[in-house]
Amino acid sequence: MSNKPFTHFLQHMRQQYDQGIIRENDLMDNPLHYFEKWFKEATEANTPEPNAMDFCTVSNNKPSSRIVLLKGVDERGFVFYTNYDSRKGNELIENPFVSLNFFWQPLARQVRIEGEISKVSAEESDQYFKTRPRESQIGAWASPQSTVIASRQVIEDEIVRYTEQFKDVEVPRPPHWGGYVVKPQRIEFWQGRLNRLHDRFLYEDSPGGWMVFRLAP
Ligand SMILES: Cc1cc2nc3c(=O)[nH]c(=O)nc-3n(C[C@H](O)[C@H](O)[C@H](O)COP(=O)(O)O)c2cc1C
Repeated sequence: MSNKPFTHFLQHMRQQYDQGIIRENDLMDNPLHYFEKWFKEATEANTPEPNAMDFCTVSNNKPSSRIVLLKGVDERGFVFYTNYDSRKGNELIENPFVSLNFFWQPLARQVRIEGEISKVSAEESDQYFKTRPRESQIGAWASPQSTVIASRQVIEDEIVRYTEQFKDVEVPRPPHWGGYVVKPQRIEFWQGRLNRLHDRFLYEDSPGGWMVFRLAP
């Protein structure tokens, strides 16, 4: 099926990027520190949901990706929370190698991360779960994430059931819900520049520490 007007429209969309440059001198030894600096700048530039990241898994040699929210960065890597029994949760059992991708449109910046994933401790998941609004806590019990359901009513009924079950008590963390941390092996910082001649710097983990390379745009 061809859709010529739509294709024509897409082919004529053009955006020039000239919001900034990466100077080699500005790079930091630790890419997680540089990430934190960029994250702060993305926030200051009013990037909508700067912590929203594309999260890609590969299972049976087939990739799949979805957006999740970054909820922590420390020396271990990048933390987010989800349902361990979801599609992504099952894919991770088979293959722990994943990628993350941030796009901060107001700054014409992209950060690509590749690494290995593991679960955070139950205590850490408990702690974060406690900070979530009660409605989200109940939602974590009510939704069998990624499974086929007959109607929205199925979830509405589960919400009613768990709201009743946890009436007057603190909602405990469901055992199937918790955090993952992605330990980065490669982190690429991409700054869009004029005429598609972007700046790209790749940090690669090596036995001697982080190595940095400039990549062609
Ligand atoms: C902006 C945004 C933020 C999201 N944040 C999360 C999140 O932090 N955790 C999560 O499990 N799903 C989140 N989702 C939903 C996921 O994209 C996805 O639909 C869900 O995790 C099921 O994915 P799966 O079937 O591949 O396991 C978010 C979606 C969007 C658009």
